[in-house]
Amino acid sequence: MKVFKTVDSIQNYLSIIDKKKSLGFVPTMGALHKGHLSIVNKAKNENSIVVVSIFVNPTQFNNEDDLNKYPVTLENDLKLLETEHCDVVFIPSVNEIYSKNIKSEVFDFDNLDKVMEGEFRKGHFDGVGTIVKKLFEIINPNRAYFGEKDFQQLQIIRKMVKNNNLPVKIIGCDIYRENDGLAMSSRNTRLNTKQRNEAPIIYKTLIKAAELFPNKDIHFVKEMVKKVYETNDTLNLEYFEIADIETLKPILIKNNDKKYRAFIAVFAGEIRLIDNIALN
Ligand code: PAJ
Repeated sequence: MKVFKTVDSIQNYLSIIDKKKSLGFVPTMGALHKGHLSIVNKAKNENSIVVVSIFVNPTQFNNEDDLNKYPVTLENDLKLLETEHCDVVFIPSVNEIYSKNIKSEVFDFDNLDKVMEGEFRKGHFDGVGTIVKKLFEIINPNRAYFGEKDFQQLQIIRKMVKNNNLPVKIIGCDIYRENDGLAMSSRNTRLNTKQRNEAPIIYKTLIKAAELFPNKDIHFVKEMVKKVYETNDTLNLEYFEIADIETLKPILIKNNDKKYRAFIAVFAGEIRLIDNIALN
């Protein structure tokens, strides 16, 4: 496994690789867990070479405290990537990526960024678009892999690739969960015991919502979810929405021709957890 820290060094290395070989790319912010590794594994099965980037991208954090507390476990990350037979790891510094200009490009994501995560984390998706576009330009992959755990992010990246005609195929990957249903996340390590014990309720409410969805109206489903969190003193609901998977617009009335997902964001103390589930 090759590890590179500079743009020049990774580009030099990738430039000597046979152009017929397909290059799969998995961008991450490190603190790797089995969810990340399941994506690396999928990329490995579908490409001759897999590049993983580890970069805690400052421009996508709307909350400085969240950025400062983001877990960094580089040594362990490299060990895990080695066991997945990852070929290349790219670990640039903030300076290498942004020089002195730590700013986001402003994107038009056709309003996909105005709801849910975009509404509650201002500027977040411009930051994500900025870093992903920069990384695509550096690595020039044939395929890039993103988890459905961040479904809104996945759809926004698809939009960015389409709007900018970027020559990369975006592949969505299933959400990887703990045995009790909690979606794996780098932030889970920050949960205390009580919070960790309560956190599986997030997925349980999503499953309940998916069960109710075919026969109940949206208002009923949303009220059910609200009530769960009103009576829980560890978890605080930030939003629960049922949205069209293409426009990500939250809906109140179902249309049988459309596909929907339920999206949720919950605070356990100051730790923010998100999850989502397909409804039809
Ligand atoms: P990060 O949170 O490290 O996630 C890296 C990739 O892993 C993302 O595509 C994310 O959706 C996926 N992922 C995280 N948890 C997962 C799980 N439980 N199951 C399946 N996939 C999971 O998302 C980011 O980093 C950043 O925004 C990034 C795209 C790297 C840009 O900075």
